[in-house]
Order: sequence, then structure tokens, then C-alpha cells
Amino acid sequence: MTTRDERQEELERAGYNLFNVPGPRVLVDLLTDSGTGAMSSEQWAGLQRGDESYAGSASWFRFRDAVQELFPFEHVIPTHQGRAAEKILFSTLGGPGKTIPNNTHFDTTRANVEFTGAEALDLPVPEALVPSSRHPFKGDMEVEALRRVLAERDVPVVFMTLTNNSGGGQPVSMANLREVRAACDAAGVPLFLDACRFAENAWFVKLREEGYADTPVPEIVRETAALADGMTMSAKKDPLGNIGGWLALNDDGLADRCRTLLILTEGFPTYGGMAGRDMDAIAQGLREAVDEDYLRYRITSTAYLGEALDKAGIPVVQPPGGHAIYIDARSFLSHIEPLEYPGQALAVALYLEGGIRGCEIGTVMFGRQPDGSEQPAPMDLVRLAIPRRTYTQSHVDYVIEVCEYVAERTSELRGLRIVEEPPALRHFTARFEPL
Ligand code: F0G
Repeated sequence: MTTRDERQEELERAGYNLFNVPGPRVLVDLLTDSGTGAMSSEQWAGLQRGDESYAGSASWFRFRDAVQELFPFEHVIPTHQGRAAEKILFSTLGGPGKTIPNNTHFDTTRANVEFTGAEALDLPVPEALVPSSRHPFKGDMEVEALRRVLAERDVPVVFMTLTNNSGGGQPVSMANLREVRAACDAAGVPLFLDACRFAENAWFVKLREEGYADTPVPEIVRETAALADGMTMSAKKDPLGNIGGWLALNDDGLADRCRTLLILTEGFPTYGGMAGRDMDAIAQGLREAVDEDYLRYRITSTAYLGEALDKAGIPVVQPPGGHAIYIDARSFLSHIEPLEYPGQALAVALYLEGGIRGCEIGTVMFGRQPDGSEQPAPMDLVRLAIPRRTYTQSHVDYVIEVCEYVAERTSELRGLRIVEEPPALRHFTARFEPL
């Protein structure tokens, strides 16, 4: 516990950037669902079983087999986390003049594409940009737009992010994925998945898409993988790891080039950036991630927060996402201009009033353009991400009370201005001052 005065001091020290606040000064930490899940007893047993042989450890084979059981790609290339897989793939496929379409790139994915000189192009369905729209698959891609881009531009790979993190944790339908696949086939371009939240996506498909109610989740996952040529993965999300990731693909030549880069920066191809024990924990986590009782609990508990905020008149992205609830700060704090960062203002207020740490996903994260100009992002959201198996209902009830308290005082909230920012990924380190 901290007092409001202590949190005010903490904010001043942190330059009003919650990434700069030490974890022990946070009461309920909803900054991310990445690496923050609680490992199960069987995962802890996996840690004990870890084999730390440099080459070809037993843990590697258990990890590789667990990955291929759900994602039967020819080559599995282990990395220390998702962005390392992105860095390796885009260093190989990206470059100036190229365009990489995605339903919506997440921050590190966009940054890794842009770092090579390529353009990261978002092609969400229009409903994805309307927070109140209850379209069941707001993670879908606008296929007509994709066809045009494929015809007109140099596209080395198309990406689909499951679930669509920047757009509200919303799922992609199998029907849309099949259409995207067909468009890629017609253009002879490979399709890759950014599959961090594949199990939550599959659960939404089972609940919402016609024809899948009786299909076991692991089968939906395999069907998803079969529509793609490869994937990047952060094992810190659905696979319930505290660290880890992989790149998986079918193309032998591309896999060889990626492995060469892997050895330069990550490690030998049978551990990449992971310890053997982490690979064992992930192998077990993958089995737990597709357990339907777990998924029912997971998605229901996220919806519980979303429904309570909605009832309190706080605008949230609808329907509730899988791993997080996204407050629509642009409409909630409509008196704050997008370039005065309503999302950041709200995230700061939730910390100040209740010690809750969320994450702005809006103009702070995406407003700076590659040419140096600044534009409002399509939406200004505050993401309250739910770590897996970590918090209890009473923690979430406390979060709801704090949100209600802030909702009664929105007119007192002011925007911020940035006083210091790095050239890329500014949201991690920028410093702000209240206006
Ligand atoms: N792709 C998506 C959709 C992500 O959400 C993330 C990470 C990554 C790739 C990169 O993976 O962190 O293992 O390097 N998202 C975290 C988040 C950080 O808070 O949503 P990573």
C-alpha cells in the first residue's frame, strides 16, 4: 500500500510515465499480461526438470514437440521473447520499399518493421476503430484493402495478429483468416501469424463462430496454424511463460537464413535465448493454455471487469477482449485533445487515486510518425491487462471501485505534454509534465 501523496511523488520522479514506477510502488499491476502470469505446479516441476545441455537438450525436444503439436510448422526457432523472433524475421524479409500489412501491428512489431526501412501498414476492419461497435470479430482484416495492397506494392509477407492487441484484444475469425490466405495465395505471398494470444482467439472462435461450438480448442489452433506459412510468438502470453518465444515456419531457405541471425544474437538453435528450464515450463504452459476450463475462467473474468465498467458508464472497447479491458479514454475524457494524451492522463489518474498501473495504447504509443511528425492515433485507449491466474476477484472489485471514483472526477483531469522522448518506442521512456 502507498498513500496518495507517496504516489504523487512517485509520479513526479517517474516523469508521469508508469513504466518508470517501481513495481513495489504499484498495488494492482495491469500494465501487461506479458510474463506476469502465475506458473502452475506442473510448470514449476518443469523448471526442476530443465536440462541445461548446450546443444540438443532434453528440454529443447520437449519444447519443440509441444510447439509442433499445436503449430505443426517444419522449423521451430527458439528466441528469448517475441520481439527477437520479429527482429530476425523482419531483418531477413524487410527493407526499404517493402510494405508489411497486418490487421494491426503491435508496438514492437511495428518498430521492428520500420527499423528495416519497410512500411508497417494496418488494415483493420472499420468496426475495429469504433470502440462501441459489438462486431464479434474486430480482429479481422479488411480483405479488399489487402488485395489492393498486394497488387500495388512490394509485400514480402502478410501478418495477422491473434488476438488483435492494439485494437482491443479482439479475435480474428477463421472465415477472415481463410479469405486472407486466399488473397495471399493469389499473390504468391506468405502469411504469418503473430500468435501470442492464439488460445484466447481459439476460445472466441469456439464461442462465436458458426460451426466451431463442438470443435476442441487444440483442433481450432491447429486449423489456424494450417492456414499460415509461419508464426512469431511471445511465450510470455498464452503459453504462460515468464520469458521465451519462437519463430516457426515451413520454408527451408528462409529458416536457414533466420537461424544464422539467431546464432549471432540469441544463441544456438536448440535453445535460442532460453534456459532449458524455461523451455520445459513453456512446454507445460502450452498444454494448460488450451484447457477449456482454464479458458472459460480466463475470458469470463476479463469480461467481469469490462461489464462492471460498462455498467458504471465508463466507455470500454466492446465486446470485452481476451487479455484486457480497454477504456476508451478519448471519449471518457473528451475535454482533453488527442495530442494532449487523454489515455496517459487517465492511466496517471488510476495510479494516483488507486495505485493501479494500466498502459496507454494511443497517441503516446503510436502518434510519432516515421517522418518525425505527430498525429493522433486512431484511438486513445487505456489497457487494463489481466495477468494470467494472478489476481483474485477482490482485486478486480477494487479496480472497479477506483475506476468509478475517477469517473466522478473526470472534469478535474488535465492532459500532459512530452518533455523528453527517444527516437522510437517513446512510450517506454518518454517523460511528461501535466498541463
Ligand atoms: N506481438 C504482440 C501482439 C504482442 O502483444 C507483443 C508483446 C509482442 C508481439 C512482442 O512480444 O514482449 O515477448 O517481445 N506485448 C506485450 C504487451 C509487451 O504488453 O502487450 P515480447
